Amino acid sequence: MKGWTPQRVAASAGAAVVGGAGEDGGGPARVIVDSRVAGPGDLFVALPGERTDGGLFAAQALAAGAWGVLAASEHLERMREPGAGVLLACADPLAALGRLAREWRRELGARVVAITGSTGKTSTKDILAVLLAPAFSTVASPLNHNTEIGLPLAILGAPAGTQALVLELAMRGAGQIAELAAICEPDVGVVVNVGPAHLELLGSLESIAAAKGELIAGLHSGASAVVPAGEPLLEPFLREDLEVVRFGEGGEVAVLEAGEGGVLVMLGERRVTLEPGFRSAHLLIDLCAALAAARALGVVVEDGALAVEFSGLRGERLSLPGEVVVINDCYNANPMSMRAALDELARTAAGRRVAVLGDMLELGAREERRYHRELGEQAQAAGVELLVTVGERAAWAGDSFGGGEHVHAPDAQGAAALLRVRLAPGDTVLVKGSRGVALERVAQALAGR
Ligand SMILES: Nc1ncnc2c1ncn2[C@@H]1O[C@H](COP(=O)(O)OP(=O)(O)O)[C@@H](O)[C@H]1O
Ligand SMILES: [Mg+2]
Repeated sequence: MKGWTPQRVAASAGAAVVGGAGEDGGGPARVIVDSRVAGPGDLFVALPGERTDGGLFAAQALAAGAWGVLAASEHLERMREPGAGVLLACADPLAALGRLAREWRRELGARVVAITGSTGKTSTKDILAVLLAPAFSTVASPLNHNTEIGLPLAILGAPAGTQALVLELAMRGAGQIAELAAICEPDVGVVVNVGPAHLELLGSLESIAAAKGELIAGLHSGASAVVPAGEPLLEPFLREDLEVVRFGEGGEVAVLEAGEGGVLVMLGERRVTLEPGFRSAHLLIDLCAALAAARALGVVVEDGALAVEFSGLRGERLSLPGEVVVINDCYNANPMSMRAALDELARTAAGRRVAVLGDMLELGAREERRYHRELGEQAQAAGVELLVTVGERAAWAGDSFGGGEHVHAPDAQGAAALLRVRLAPGDTVLVKGSRGVALERVAQALAGR
């Protein structure tokens, strides 16, 4: 945004310039929401937060040399000494941040892919970024920046010249995806799947599907909707004026064969053989979703290797002494990703299968017991011989597990202690639970033993 005048930045954000003009009359080099990292060239957007109001740090950001601040008017009133930086006043800084991002997205004129879904958004984003890179100068949301704050920052972080934006959109409740879609104006909308994640917020799978449907509703005429084949819950949202691409078994983009020699994929009429370095069923689904999105943008993927580096704690494999393998998949968990992880444990474990499963949170009081009981049955079906449950909800999985030994721990530390005396050479140990259970401490404790 360096080429923009302060007036243009203000107009884009729906704000007014109430002080300063910038050193050279140009725009900011970077947009930030954390005053502690402020420095020259930065536009600090002062968001009201739960613990504190960013507006209270506006002066601090300017003192650190920031290009300017965008804040609620009341925070700028006492700060009008000349030369301190550009002061942009608005009524609602969060809305202003979103508007500014939308204007930057328009200025870039980049192709935008928006990815949502109950599980696998980040993984699909990571794969798609690799697929698009040879064709376009591509920027993807960093880490997990997928909220009404993270998404605008992801867009604003894209440098001039960016040709493709791969963005992750989170769903925290009805209406949120619509808001996010309005900010990023996607050309391609990907719904990876519809499953019981954040069930407590929305109450039913149909409502969850409707929330994902907001992304499809937010697509402009002629845009592409990428959806799982055979997902009836999304059908009501598909429109005549969209290019609809279905992926997965029965769709136009699907894996035909995955073996030692590579992954053979059907891409409409074409067949390509890829070597993505992973074979887990759920990642192959994410691969199909990403391939379908790439195809929607006209990118022709050729045979060959695909070097994807996934974000942390998502199925990392750690080798411990005594030929114990830990599958560290503790970034998060919901019924869909738990099942995928148990399938992967069953597919890859050479010796005894051990599962350390933590609470699945946010399922709502009405359904949580059922989903945890199903989890115990799935663990048994996956051939788990030692089940360690962590947390009071996960304990229900133990009640329905009849596959072998079950032990329970109140927390991650307790689970690590139980495992220390029970693990045997050759074991493969899956560790997975919701973020709140922080099961990475299990892997850390085992690795450090
Ligand atoms: N298509 C999928 N189906 C089921 N589980 C998946 C899928 N893709 C990824 N996962 C699992 O979900 C976890 C979270 O993946 P991630 O890509 O971070 O999803 P999100 O961004 O939607 O939270 C991963 O650790 C993996 O276990
Ligand atoms: Mg994510």
